[in-house]
Amino acid sequence: MVQRVLGIPYICLTVLFLPLLQGVDILDPGQVVYSETKTNGVVGRGVILECGPTLPDVYIWGFTQPGTDIIRAVVYNFGKGPKIQKLANDLGDLTVISNSASLSIENLLLAAEGVYTCQALYDTPEGAKLYYYYVFLHVLVPVTKPYILMTDSSPVEGTSMTMRCGLENGTGPINYIWEQESRESQLTTMAEIYDDNRFNVTEVNRNHTGWYRCLASNQVNQQRSDRIWLDIIFGPDQPQIDVTPYSVTERGYSALEKETVSLLCQASSNPPSQYVWFYNNSQVYTGPQFTITKVLRMHTGHYACLAQNTYLNTRSRKTITLTVYYPPDGAPTCSISPVNNYSDLALHCTWEGGIPAATLGWTPYVFGEESEGLTNITKIQKGEETGNNTVFICQGSHIASNEIKSCSARTWMPYGEPKCSAYATRNNEYIMLSCSWEGGFPRALVWWASSSGDMQGTSEENANILVLRSNAIYSGKAFICHAKHPLTKGTKQCTLKLEAPVLVTQRSVMTVYEGSDVQLTCILSRNYPVTEITWYNNLKQHVNEIPKKYVLERAAAWTNLTVRETDSDTDSGEYWCSATNAVGGAEIPIMLMVKRYPMPPNIIINKIIYNSRQRIDVDLEWQLQTDGELTGFFIERQMLPEPVKKRNSGLPWQKLVDLEPDSRSYQINNLDPTGTYAFRITAVNHRTIGNPSEIKSPAEPPFNAYPAVIGAAIGGMIIATIITVLLFLYVVRNRNNNPRLHDLIFGRQNSQSRENINFPEDEVPGTAEGERGTGQPSPPASPATSMALPRPTATPTNLPPGEEPVNVTITVMASS
Ligand SMILES: *[C@@H]1O[C@H](CO)[C@@H](O)[C@H](O)[C@H]1NC(C)=O
Ligand SMILES: *[C@@H]1O[C@H](CO)[C@@H](O)[C@H](O)[C@H]1NC(C)=O
Ligand SMILES: *[C@@H]1O[C@H](CO)[C@@H](O)[C@H](O)[C@H]1NC(C)=O
Ligand SMILES: *[C@@H]1O[C@H](CO)[C@@H](O)[C@H](O)[C@H]1NC(C)=O
Ligand SMILES: *[C@@H]1O[C@H](CO)[C@@H](O)[C@H](O)[C@H]1NC(C)=O
Ligand SMILES: *[C@@H]1O[C@H](CO)[C@@H](O)[C@H](O)[C@H]1NC(C)=O
Ligand SMILES: *[C@@H]1O[C@H](CO)[C@@H](O)[C@H](O)[C@H]1NC(C)=O
Ligand SMILES: *[C@@H]1O[C@H](CO)[C@@H](O)[C@H](O)[C@H]1NC(C)=O
Repeated sequence: MVQRVLGIPYICLTVLFLPLLQGVDILDPGQVVYSETKTNGVVGRGVILECGPTLPDVYIWGFTQPGTDIIRAVVYNFGKGPKIQKLANDLGDLTVISNSASLSIENLLLAAEGVYTCQALYDTPEGAKLYYYYVFLHVLVPVTKPYILMTDSSPVEGTSMTMRCGLENGTGPINYIWEQESRESQLTTMAEIYDDNRFNVTEVNRNHTGWYRCLASNQVNQQRSDRIWLDIIFGPDQPQIDVTPYSVTERGYSALEKETVSLLCQASSNPPSQYVWFYNNSQVYTGPQFTITKVLRMHTGHYACLAQNTYLNTRSRKTITLTVYYPPDGAPTCSISPVNNYSDLALHCTWEGGIPAATLGWTPYVFGEESEGLTNITKIQKGEETGNNTVFICQGSHIASNEIKSCSARTWMPYGEPKCSAYATRNNEYIMLSCSWEGGFPRALVWWASSSGDMQGTSEENANILVLRSNAIYSGKAFICHAKHPLTKGTKQCTLKLEAPVLVTQRSVMTVYEGSDVQLTCILSRNYPVTEITWYNNLKQHVNEIPKKYVLERAAAWTNLTVRETDSDTDSGEYWCSATNAVGGAEIPIMLMVKRYPMPPNIIINKIIYNSRQRIDVDLEWQLQTDGELTGFFIERQMLPEPVKKRNSGLPWQKLVDLEPDSRSYQINNLDPTGTYAFRITAVNHRTIGNPSEIKSPAEPPFNAYPAVIGAAIGGMIIATIITVLLFLYVVRNRNNNPRLHDLIFGRQNSQSRENINFPEDEVPGTAEGERGTGQPSPPASPATSMALPRPTATPTNLPPGEEPVNVTITVMASS
């Protein structure tokens, strides 16, 4: 206030008089010289007011209080020493500096402010000189220690407040500096305000919290206030949640199962926050740090932290998602499947169930890196770069498990080569073409194609059966089975050709003598699918139905039908050999002719006589009447009823005995001595029975002396006969050594007679009915060869040479 009153004229005077002060000495004599200066003083301190450079002869100091016109004397000196007036006491401790007219005021008082005028007179040779020295004294007051006043010492964030820096004394203008000392003792200058002790904060925030000081300063000094605390009330802010261990994914936080998880919630607030935790909206914990010591997969969910400022009754909330990681169960699953048309392998590996997905990788042939975060992976392995029995391993790892789990798969080729076969269903309704290529992993693809390359049916794995309705058009057609496996280069194939049966026989006409077995042969020369030959007899009956009569022998390509104990009446005729498969059939006839043996010779009974009077035994002798082959004899008897008058032709004949062909005598024993008998003898040639001899009854024995004589004679002849027989046997057995002797005795007929009528003749092929022209042309069986009549002696000669029966007839006549 003081300063303001004096300030303006003071400045004006300075401007007006300052140039004059320099030229004081060269003023016109006789003129009063004026000089003005300005001086500041401070209350309580000292100040010197000057009056000219030298001591004037006479001077007077006057003082004018501000705001008045009155000049009052303070000191004067008229040559007899300075005289200080009472007024000086109001100004401070005033003295005059010796040898000068300057004043010194110690302990300056505030009332000393004003204009001091020193009127000085100098007696100079040029005459007396008068000077007026005006001194403007400004008395300044230092600032006292300020203090702070606040409109609100704990304002809420966002509101406005004003701080004041209170000050008792101090000359203005005063500069105010606001300092903040934070909690961390950091000093900050918040504001510097000139001449206004208020510090307005329009919107307080938490950063304003701290110790405040104000620093007031003026021209004289500066002073700091004591510090004062400003407490800003705020919050809670949006909470911050820290998860330990820290692991963030795009889905939120994650934790591994069984580890300890700690959730720490922090929300800035003054006063500090109160915390409440929620799991899936239900309260689980109170306090800032929520710890789950052994987290389980069921703990996955939303965790919310609620922070509250109880003073302001405000709250804030933050929710996080926590996912608990756990590995999938078990181990990965490996599989291999064919791709790219069965030329490459797709290796699949899957391991599902864990969170997050496991990491899978194939070894050994890993192209590229492991596939992270996939529950399954598929890699393509070039088939031709893969060896047989290669094992591929898929390894799975999971973040929540330190174990590596794996699976493996082995690829291998099917066994050998694909195999083709055809067969027909029952009754040849359908043809089944079967192709298989067993084994292998993965399995091979198998499909059928016609010879022109068109695919037939579908393609299948491992085996494929193509079913065709039976039809003769398939005869001669080829079918190709293709098989493809990734480990093999290209495709493999097998081929089959369907063919209607073709039947061939070695002899289409067979001739045998009755009683023997005969073998008919039929050969199946071409035939696919394979079928069997069936035989029909001369009555078109299936031979299997008559097992004793017919015997079948089968081999791969042929069957032999043996007709046993052929009979000329029933077994002659056309036999049929037949074969049918799904693409056609064939049938050929084989003519069997069973011939009878020729009639054996007629027989004459030479002798028939009881050898004793007891009439028990009869001696019988006979001889051949005609030539001819024979195989034996049989003797029959008839018991004639009493009285024996006539032979009754109606009486039955009783066969007594069969005899060898070389026997010519026989003794019939054990007859009833009282009975009357008739006998006859018949020659047989195999089954052909000759004419019986004439019927004879035995005669009574002759005179008793005869037998001895005749016996002796016969005995001699029997010895001769035996020798002859032995000779003949020797010749026959050694006929190769003595052919001439042999021929001499037997002629050549004997060897020729052994000609085998079963000598193989030309083969007569029989083909499918009506297709005879396509078969090998063959002349009709020539009767000259195939029906060549056998010699009567023809017998199956499977005896070794030299053992053949030799028919020798030796007739021994009793001579007396
Ligand atoms: C301030 O000034 C008044 C009057 O001049 C005086 O009475 C008081 O003592 C002074 N206060 C201080 C702290 O100097
Ligand atoms: C502070 O606010 C008061 C009243 O609102 C105003 O008069 C004063 O000039 C302001 N001071 C400053 C430094 O802005
Ligand atoms: C408080 O201070 C900090 C650091 O100095 C700053 O980042 C933040 O923005 C301030 N807050 C406000 C409300 O001004
Ligand atoms: C919690 O919520 C999550 C997500 O909605 C859910 O998967 C989980 O099963 C819930 N847990 C319980 C115990 O309800
Ligand atoms: C698949 O392979 C077969 C035989 O190798 C071939 O004929 C066929 O054209 C192939 N198909 C494709 C689509 O490559
Ligand atoms: C493999 O994963 C894919 C997607 O990653 C999915 O579409 C496919 O169904 C899965 N296959 C199997 C066999 O799981
Ligand atoms: C491939 O391996 C399998 C199984 O060991 C074996 O049976 C087969 O003979 C092998 N094939 C070849 C062509 O080596
Ligand atoms: C079937 O007959 C043929 C020709 O006659 C003959 O070669 C073959 O040995 C005979 N088979 C049997 C078992 O008798």
